[in-house]
Amino acid sequence: MTVPLEVHLDAGDQERALRADVVAGLTATPKWLPPKWFYDARGSELFEQITELPEYYPTRAERAILTERAAQIARLTGARTLIELGSGYSTKTRLLLEALHPALFVPMDVSPTALEAAADQIATDFPALPVRGIVGDITRHLNSLPDASDRLIAFLGGTIGNFEPADRARLLADVRRVLRPGEHLLLGTDLVKSPRALVPAYDDAAGVTAEFNKNVLRVLNHHLQADFDIDGFAHVALWNADHEWIEMRLRARWPMRVTIPAVDLVVELAAGEEIRTEISAKFRREGVDKELTEAGFALDQWWTDPEARFALSLAHATP
Ligand code: AVJ
Repeated sequence: MTVPLEVHLDAGDQERALRADVVAGLTATPKWLPPKWFYDARGSELFEQITELPEYYPTRAERAILTERAAQIARLTGARTLIELGSGYSTKTRLLLEALHPALFVPMDVSPTALEAAADQIATDFPALPVRGIVGDITRHLNSLPDASDRLIAFLGGTIGNFEPADRARLLADVRRVLRPGEHLLLGTDLVKSPRALVPAYDDAAGVTAEFNKNVLRVLNHHLQADFDIDGFAHVALWNADHEWIEMRLRARWPMRVTIPAVDLVVELAAGEEIRTEISAKFRREGVDKELTEAGFALDQWWTDPEARFALSLAHATP
């Protein structure tokens, strides 16, 4: 079944945002690029492959929690509308849909390809369920979410970890503003643990995460006519113990001069110079509780998988 998508990010919009990010990030010291640009069709597909890697435990851990708690989430929230932020292919969301039987499902994602595949598949598998897919950026388009009642906003997978603390505070406050008091947020967060488990999850033996990381350069080559030599970069994943986040970087193997015609930019990289492409923050219960409270939520439930690798928090919007 084909579900029409509501597009809040047209191609021109996306190109402008990409250009602005590339100019800001690649003229900064140290250089950086925001992780949302990983997710073109190829990047979204690579991320799906990551979720099945033996080293990448978050997806399996979160699925285990959802499997165990979906019925309880349905009972506690009584949600009639399920909104999913950063939905991707919405694979784990099926567990919630089966338990909730909502009257409406609203997945929102920056990637139209992943969203389309997800929305079509879910509409096929849940024929009675209205699906309203929204192509949008969660940092800009939360206003376009439907104003239904009894909503549950799910933000799964640990994607909140892609944001630095100040940006997280802003995002959570924005999510809170969408809701009425009593409506719910279900938040997935990866937890602080030994770097011996964390680092391999972002540097797998098969090299899928390395390809995913380098995909951002392909996106720049494709959309901005840049001439990055992809093989000239090494994938780097490291644990930043001060910030308690994983950082992914791309390290230039030799000195490079990259031209990016669409933004009229020439970028020089020294041998060994790195571009930070992602942070993936890891959390503790006290921190999540505090951040939710400061954003206007009250934490109702904190569930982890048996090995306490990943947590799902259920919270409600406070008056
Ligand atoms: C989709 C943001 C949750 O941070 O673990 C996976 C992305 N990056 N491997 C994460 C990712 C490298 C993922 N999130």
